[in-house]
Amino acid sequence: MLFNTNKASKEKKQTIDQFRNHVSSGKVDFYKKYNMDFVMGHRDGPWLYDIDGKKKLYNLHSNGGVFNLGHRNKEIIDILKSNLQNYDIGNHHLISKERAELGAKMAELMPGNLDYTIFGVSGGEAIDLALKIARAYTKRKKIISVYGGYHGHTGLSIQTGDAQYRTPFLFDSPDFIQVEFNNIDSIQATLQEDIACVILETIPATLGMPIPKDGYLKKVKELCEKNGSLLILDEVQAGLGRTGKLWAFEHFNVIPDMVVLAKGLSGGIYPMSATVIDRKLETVFHDDPFIHISTSGGSELGSVVAKKVLEISSDQIFLENVNFISDLFQIQLKKLQQKHSGYFKGIRRKGLMMGLELKDDLAGPVLTKTAYDNDLLIIYANNDKSIVQFLPPLIMEEKDVYFVIKQLDKAIKQARLLHPIAKLKELF
Ligand SMILES: Cc1ncc(COP(=O)(O)O)c(C=O)c1O
Repeated sequence: MLFNTNKASKEKKQTIDQFRNHVSSGKVDFYKKYNMDFVMGHRDGPWLYDIDGKKKLYNLHSNGGVFNLGHRNKEIIDILKSNLQNYDIGNHHLISKERAELGAKMAELMPGNLDYTIFGVSGGEAIDLALKIARAYTKRKKIISVYGGYHGHTGLSIQTGDAQYRTPFLFDSPDFIQVEFNNIDSIQATLQEDIACVILETIPATLGMPIPKDGYLKKVKELCEKNGSLLILDEVQAGLGRTGKLWAFEHFNVIPDMVVLAKGLSGGIYPMSATVIDRKLETVFHDDPFIHISTSGGSELGSVVAKKVLEISSDQIFLENVNFISDLFQIQLKKLQQKHSGYFKGIRRKGLMMGLELKDDLAGPVLTKTAYDNDLLIIYANNDKSIVQFLPPLIMEEKDVYFVIKQLDKAIKQARLLHPIAKLKELF
């Protein structure tokens, strides 16, 4: 790409000034402080380019799965373009061919009686709906989630999260109870008669990808059934092929009552979320089918895109690539871990849903910075900063694994040098 550097630098400065003055001054100050004021310009597959053309980043965060299929995936763009000839958002009150076909495709790909889908725009909205359905169906109010889990920032989803996200906004309802992840006793002790549902991410991303212990999810489902409570699995990050199977819960021999999807369902192009529900739960809407609405949820253009995402992500060859790249990473990351033992302590992995376990809480932020300096976009897990989330695009090619490992090696070396200075100066 050719850039007129003067013009591009001016454009970047103007963007940053406008952003500081009219969108978020705090974010600009944060990125300036760490010399990471990247402004997304051109983007293509796994690559992001700074708007001034001076830097590029290999996207190993994929926005938590939004960019599973890479940036500006050609198949997604082509289908959107061709449907722009005929469609728009559509009307959420009316029957829609595109929404119907997407619902049918989803049901075909989901196991058990997960036959109905209500579409939304964001993950938080889809989580809120799942919680509403749980309450309406069970006629119970209380909701169990896990410490460090994350389901969104909307009215109900935020209340399932940690206090740091809730208390500034004065959310402190006793109807939302948190327990420890992977601890069956704490769920068992909390599952009383007034519990509407348990909500879990199949693999909690913001907690740093702890993998569910053998039998944990299955046991949670059994306990829920016994107690007349529902199990909601949030696959906003873990779904759509991320773990090497189409749905992450398929690894754990469990079928939940509801599944929530978002992020990647958009193809990175057109926002779309989904609350997929067991057939029995659809009765909640029998008295008044208009009791829940989302004007732009399940938009017709979005439905066309999401259907294509489902087609691509459920393809066996696509899933085989995820597993192939995941196995290659395991071998290469293990070597890095041995080389940098003491700093890089372990690998959490299910397909390409991976977390790098580091020395301590400072190491995640420090490695995020040195990785950035080495052209890699990775981000530490906000609810466990000793873990760096590692979510490459699912379309990743073998040659890119070696590039990423080479750069990560350099980034870890620099992080090890920077760590004591960062600690001393309280840089992060
Ligand atoms: C696991 C999980 N659930 C729900 C959400 C909320 O999705 P959204 O930001 O689209 O509201 C997120 C967002 O990061 C998420 O990671």
